[in-house]
Amino acid sequence: MAFFIPEEKIFEIKNAADIVDIISESVLLKKSGRNYVGLCPFHSEKTPSFTVNYEKQIFYCFGCGAGGNVFAYLTKKEGFTFPEAVKYVAGKYGIDIPVEKISPEKHKEISEKDSIFSINKQAMDFFKGCLLNEDNGKKALEYLKKRKISDNTIRDYHLGYAPDGWNVLLNYFAKKNVLTSMLEKAGLIIRKNKSEGFYDRFRNRIIFPIFDVNSQVIGFGGRVMDDSLPKYLNSPETIVFNKSQSLYGLNMARSECRITETVFIVEGYFDLLSLHENGIINSVATLGTAISSEHVKILRAIVGKDGKIILVYDSDDAGIKAAQRSIEIFDKGFADARILVLPSGYDPDSYLVKFGQQAFKNAVLSAQGTVSFLINSAIKKYGLSVEGKIHIVSELKNTLSSIEDNVARALYIRELSEKINIDESALHERVRETLSGITLNKYINKSDSNTISDNPDVAGYDSENSIIENRQRGTRLERQIITMMLQFSEMVPEIIKRDLLSGFTDDILKSIGNAIIDQQTLPEPNLRDAIPVFDNNEKNSIVAFLSIKDEVWDNKSCLELIKQFEYIYKRNKDTSIKKIKQAEETNDEKLLLELLRAKQIQAKNKRNSSLKALGGKTIW
Ligand code: CTP
Ligand code: MN
Repeated sequence: MAFFIPEEKIFEIKNAADIVDIISESVLLKKSGRNYVGLCPFHSEKTPSFTVNYEKQIFYCFGCGAGGNVFAYLTKKEGFTFPEAVKYVAGKYGIDIPVEKISPEKHKEISEKDSIFSINKQAMDFFKGCLLNEDNGKKALEYLKKRKISDNTIRDYHLGYAPDGWNVLLNYFAKKNVLTSMLEKAGLIIRKNKSEGFYDRFRNRIIFPIFDVNSQVIGFGGRVMDDSLPKYLNSPETIVFNKSQSLYGLNMARSECRITETVFIVEGYFDLLSLHENGIINSVATLGTAISSEHVKILRAIVGKDGKIILVYDSDDAGIKAAQRSIEIFDKGFADARILVLPSGYDPDSYLVKFGQQAFKNAVLSAQGTVSFLINSAIKKYGLSVEGKIHIVSELKNTLSSIEDNVARALYIRELSEKINIDESALHERVRETLSGITLNKYINKSDSNTISDNPDVAGYDSENSIIENRQRGTRLERQIITMMLQFSEMVPEIIKRDLLSGFTDDILKSIGNAIIDQQTLPEPNLRDAIPVFDNNEKNSIVAFLSIKDEVWDNKSCLELIKQFEYIYKRNKDTSIKKIKQAEETNDEKLLLELLRAKQIQAKNKRNSSLKALGGKTIW
C-alpha cells in the first residue's frame, strides 16, 4: 500500500531541499551567470545544455526538454515514485515524515477499497465452489468443456458459476455478516426498484473473475449458457473497477508481454482464454469497451516504447472502426501498432478451435500496420476509378492529418500516393488543409478539451519534435502570459479578474495557467508556490522552460501584455471564426478553405501591426 504524505510536509521538504546540492550528487555542475550548467544525465551530449537555477529551484535541459523541480529530477534520474523522491529528500535533510497522518477521508477510501477487494475474493471463491461442487454447477462445467476450456484454465483463471436464484450470494454473505451496503458498492447486488431490499446481479451464469495486475479481484464478467440475453453481464464500475483502465488476463499475460515486447488485444473472455490455452499468453482482452488511452499507457509501460501491439478483430468493419478510433492513441504510444482481421465469421476463439495455433500464428504474420490497413481497406471499398480515388482521399485525410509524427505522416502520404497513383504533393496539400481545419476546430470548440492531448505523456513521448513543439505551444502571447504568471505572481489576480485564460487556444498552457491560479489562491498562504508541479512530464518541462528564462517584469509592461492579448483575442473571436464555424456547420468545404486561408494571412498581418501599435516587444 502506498504511503501518503500531507501537502504541508511536501512543501516543507521541498523548501528545505537545495536542488543544486542534490543534482550535484550525480552531475558535475559549473556556475554560469545566475545558473549552474552541466552535461545532461538524460541524454548524451558533449556541450552542456542542462541548466539548474538555484533561486527558482528548478532544472531544465535545453537539449532534451527534461525539466522540473527536485522531485521531478529524482523520479526521472533514480526511477523513484513521487513519494519515494519526497522520502529521499526528507531523509537527506533530516525531516521526519509522519507516516500515520492519513486524512480521515483517505483512510475511509483505503479501507473501503480493501473491503471490496476482500468481498470480491470471497464471492470468487463462492462461485468457484458452485462450479465444482453444486449439483447445478454440472451444467456450467459441461458448457466450459464444450467450449474447450481445460481444467487447468478453469483453475488458473478461477472460473466459477453463479447459481440460479435471486439471493444465493446475498444469503451467503448475510451468514458472514457482510453489510449489504458494501455488497452494493462491490456491484454484486442490485437494489430492487419497487420494493425494499436487493437481489443478486449474477444469476445462472458462468463467472469470469477480473483481476488487476496485483491479482486482486476487481470485478466479474458473467455469460449465459444458452441464447438468452444479455449474453454477457459485467460488474458495474466501482471504486476498484474502472473499465477503461482494466484488461482481462493482464495479470497472467504481463511477464510474457514484457519478454516478447508484444501484446495481442482481443474483445472477448473466451477469445482471451483460447489464446492463453494455445500458448499465446501475451494477450489481453478489453472489457466490452473500446481500447482507451489508459489501456495504451498501461500496455506501453509493459512492452516498452519499441514494443508491438496487435489488435485482433473478427471483421473488416470492426477492424476499420477500431483502427480509426485508435490511430491517435497508438500514434503517441506505439512504434508498431497492427490490425489483424480474421476471416469472416471467425473470432480468435472460434478460429483457434477450428484451425489451431499454427494457423493463428501464420495469420499474425499478415497483420498490417493500422494506417496501411486503413489505406488498403479504403482501396478495397472504393476501387481505383477516378471517383474511387476521390473517396479514398476524402476518407483518409482525417486519419493522415491526425498523425502527429511528421516523419510518419509523410511516409504514409507517400504510401498512399504510390498505391493510388496520385501526386504526393497534392496529397500533402489536402492533409495540410485538413490539419489547419482541425487546429481551428480545437480553437472554436475550446470547451470540449481533447482527452487525448489532455494526457500527452501517455507515451512519455520525447522526440526532438515534441520538445520544439512544447516550447512553441500556443501563441507567443500565451507563452508570455504564462511566463509572467510564473515569474511575477503579483499579476495573477489581474489574470483572474479578466478571465484571460478562457481566451487561450492551447489546452496545456491553459491548464498550467489554472494550476498557477489554484496554487496562488490557496487558503493557506504558506503553501503558495509560484511554480506548480505536475504528474506529467510534458507540463513540467514547459513550466521549467518558461520559468528558467530571465525576464524583467514590472506592472506597466505586464498590463501592456495583458491588453495586447485581450485585443487580439477579442478581434479574432468576433469576426472570422464565426464565419468559419458557419461554413463548417453547413459543410461548405470550398468556402471553409477560402476563409481559413484568408484568416491565416489576416492573422499574420494583424499581429504585426497590433504589435507595432501597442509597442510590444518580442521576447522570443
Ligand atoms: N460483451 C459484453 N456485454 C455484452 C456483449 C459482449 O461485455 N452484452 C463483451 C464481452 O467481453 C464479450 C465481448 O464483448 O466477451 C465480445 O462479445 P461477443 O463477440 O458477442 O461474444 P464472444 O466473446 O464471441 O462470446 P462467445 O464466444 O461466448 O459467444
Ligand atoms: Mn466467440
